[in-house]
Formats: sequence, C-alpha cells, structure tokens
Amino acid sequence: MQEQLLLLNQISDELNKDLDLDNMLQRVIDLTVTHFRASSGSIMLFDDNRRVSKYILQRQHGNISDDQASRILGQVLSEGFAGWVLEHGRGDVIFETQEDERWYNYPNQPYTTRSVIASPLSRRNRMLGLVTITHQDPHHFRKEDLPLLNAIAGQAAIALENAQLFYQTELERTKLSAIINSTQDAIVVTHPENNKVLLMNPAAEKLLRVKRGSWYDRPFEEVSSLDSLIDIINLEPESEQEFKLPDGRILLPSVIDVPNVGRLALMHDISALKALDKMRSEFVVAFTHDLAAPLAAIKGYIELMKLDGSLSEQQVEDLESIRMSVDQMRTLIKDLQELTRLETLKNMLTCDIKLKDTLQKSCQAFQPMAEVKRIRLSLEADLDNIVTHGNPALISRAVDNLVENAIKYTEPDGNVNIILSTNDQEALITVKDTGPGIPSQKLPNIFEKFFRAHTPGENEVPGSGLGLSIVKTIVERHNGRIWVESEVNVGSTFTIALPLQINGSSI
Ligand SMILES: Nc1ncnc2c1ncn2[C@@H]1O[C@H](COP(=O)(O)OP(=O)(O)O)[C@@H](O)[C@H]1O
Ligand SMILES: [Mg+2]
Repeated sequence: MQEQLLLLNQISDELNKDLDLDNMLQRVIDLTVTHFRASSGSIMLFDDNRRVSKYILQRQHGNISDDQASRILGQVLSEGFAGWVLEHGRGDVIFETQEDERWYNYPNQPYTTRSVIASPLSRRNRMLGLVTITHQDPHHFRKEDLPLLNAIAGQAAIALENAQLFYQTELERTKLSAIINSTQDAIVVTHPENNKVLLMNPAAEKLLRVKRGSWYDRPFEEVSSLDSLIDIINLEPESEQEFKLPDGRILLPSVIDVPNVGRLALMHDISALKALDKMRSEFVVAFTHDLAAPLAAIKGYIELMKLDGSLSEQQVEDLESIRMSVDQMRTLIKDLQELTRLETLKNMLTCDIKLKDTLQKSCQAFQPMAEVKRIRLSLEADLDNIVTHGNPALISRAVDNLVENAIKYTEPDGNVNIILSTNDQEALITVKDTGPGIPSQKLPNIFEKFFRAHTPGENEVPGSGLGLSIVKTIVERHNGRIWVESEVNVGSTFTIALPLQINGSSI
C-alpha cells in the first residue's frame, strides 16, 4: 500500500513537472513498468477519430521498431485487447494470453507476452488513450493490480487534457500574434486604468518610431511624444475622427474597450486614399469649370440664332431641344460642383435653425412648380419651436431637393406633403408624395451618386442623379440621418432626422 501511494505521488510529480507531452508520458510509463516489474509497457494516444496519434513504448528486454509498432497497432486496436478495452471503456487483466482470445498474436512477434494489464485514459467520456503493461510470464498480474493502474491512467488523462488545452491555447495565441504582427494597421493595446502599453505591433512601432519592444508596461504618453496620438488613445469608443500627423500622414483610428484585455486602438493609415480623393475633387473642379464656359457660349449662340430670325418652325424646335440639353448639362455641372464643394467643405457657418421657417420657405418656393403640375403641396408643422443647429442654407438646400423630387416625379393631381415632427432626440422632416414609388431592389442605391431609378414614365424627367447624394452629404455633415420608405404606385416618403437643439413640444 505504502509503495503504491509512493508510486502515485511520483507519477503525479512527473505529470506536473513540465508540459512536454513526450517527456511526461515516457517518465510515467518508465515508473509504472518498474513498479509492476513488467517486461514492457506502452501508452498510446488517440485523436478525435480514434486513430493512434502517439505511441510511447518502454521495454525492459528486447526491442520493437517504430515501423513494426505502427503495423501492429491497427490490428490490435480493432481486434486485440486494446480494442476490447476501448469498446468496454474499462481496464482488465489477461492472466494467460494463450488462453484468452482477446489477445491478438501477430506474426513474427519479436517477444512473447503471456500476461497483460491495461487501462483506458479517459476524460469526460472521451477516450484519450490507453496504457498497457505486459509480462513474458503468465499470471504475473493480479486483479488487485487494476485499481492502481486505473489511478495512474486517471492522473495521466487529466495531465493529458491539460497539456492538450495548453497546446490549443498556445496555437491560437501564436496564430493571433502572427496576424497582429503582420497586419499593416497599427495596433496599440493599453491598460484601461493606467494607460500603460500592453501590446504594440510592429506597424505601431514603425508609426510611433519606437524601438522594438521598448514600450512594454510604460505609460502611452511616455512612449509616444506625438500629442495627436495621445488623443487617439483617449478617444471615445466608436468615434470616427481622422488624425493628421506632423509628417502629413492621416490616420483613421478606431478605439474599442475590450473587456478583460484593455483599450485597443487600431490606426489605419488613409493618407493614400485621402490623396486620391483630393485628386478626384481637384479634377472635378477643374473639369466642371472648363465645361461651364463653352456651355454658356452655346446657350448664347442659340439665343442669337433665334434673334437672327428667318428660321423655319422645325429649326426653332431643334434649337429648343439643344437648349434643353445644354440646360441639363449645366444642371449636372452645377450639382457636381456643389457636391464637391460640400465634400471638401472644412468649416461651415452655423446657427440655430427654426425648422418650421425653413419648411415654410421651401413650401412657398415650390408652390408655383406644384401648381403647374396640379399637385397639392401642403405643410404640416404644428410645433413652432423645433430648432436644430447647422448651416441654414445647406439645410434649406436638402429640404428643397426632396420637395423638388417629390413634385418632379409625382404625376399631375397627386399630393406632396411636408411634415415636421420630433422623436425624443431628433427633429424629423418628412416629405411624402403619392408618386410612382421606387422599386425595393433600387432603394439601397438611391442615395448613391449618379443613381437614377428610371421607373416607367419617369424617363423624360431631367436630372443629374446627384440630388439625393447632395441631401445625404448635407444631412451627415449635420450628424443627422436620412432614409426612405417607398412602395411602387403608392408613393415615397423621405425622412431627414437632425439632432434637436430645442424640442418644440416642451415649450
Ligand atoms: N420622390 C420620388 N419618387 C420617386 N422616385 C424618386 C423620388 N425621389 C428620387 N427618386 C428617384 O431617385 C433618383 C435619384 O434622385 P436624385 O438624386 O434627386 O436625382 P435626380 O432627381 O437628378 O434624378 C431619381 O432619378 C428617381 O429615380
Ligand atoms: Mg433630384
């Protein structure tokens, strides 16, 4: 008994010593074979498909090559004693192999085995492996030996599971660290309370010009002397602010608080994209400017030709078509210029805007256009004091675009309704029409530049496809939202939501 406890203690020490699986199992099998004064012992481990993933053998006498071992294993596992133990999920003793049909005698056996004891390594109903001890004499093992081998197998199974979990975690960690280290985006993780740097990938080291590894456990302020970067780490999560570095590079950071890890800042260098965007804007400005002048000249010459007189009716009609096309091109150029201006607008003048006034003005301005099309244009704005903060000209422009569209696309005798309301945080401007509606598959693209839905009957309506992009850009500059609900042949409802400065309902 004393001896058995000593062995279990020794084995437990071995199993806790290190996490190297091979060393660990080799020592366990050595100790077990010695204790049982056996001829040989082996531990085999299985993968999830019950195939042998590892085979560790200890022999007191004689030897068996790895090649021989692997050939034997397949048969033993399906037919032999090992197969029996696996199937029954418990250990057992073979007192005399020559009288027990569970023992598989394979050809050219290099040594004789006459008695065997084996026990499964199992955890939570999973068979992880098998430990087998053999002897060349019959009746070497007794039934009473089984509990000890079971205890050894139990301990080995726990250690094995721990080692497997450790390797899995280690593997995941290595994978993750390879991803973090090879990404081009700079990643910095800091402690949420003291701002000390916990992790910085090579891209971040390069960005901050910090020596490799010199950042660990130092406050971020000490590691980076760039004020702008210190601001980044202190950003509110989910804010989308761009940062300009002294060397001109532009970063788009995103900050996330990761529970139990820290504050993670991911910095994406968008300098190249910005440069491209600037080039695009400059190109549009130059190009539209150069187009505007010849168009004005064409328009002038059309008028001159009309004044010259002696034109046939057909010629007058043709000239009118040319004039309309020129007008459409001018609208397109004007819209393009406006959109580019909006996109590159740095500062805008702002003040409190009483939205009821804005909507009234828009309603009045479009009344003549509505009358020409026999469309009833009405305003519902009961709340006087709904106030948002922003640029009045731009907000008016956004509303006008929606109202203009509603009248433009609605058939004569229809209705267009402008409604002002609020939810708790936002002022809501709704423009509702009884027009042709927009097919649902086209709705996701409706705010894209140059997108025109081209619903039947609307093809003759001139436009640039830029109006709604302009509205969306204006609304987003004001931290607002825009959306549309529409049903074909019923109508469309566009809604702009803007942050409330004063809520009319509370006054
Ligand atoms: N009130 C509306 N009813 C139906 N279709 C609309 C309405 N408003 C916009 N659309 C569709 O969305 C497209 C994009 O609108 P917009 O950007 O203002 O461009 P434009 O009016 O110059 O064509 C329009 O071409 C039209 O197909
Ligand atoms: Mg439009």
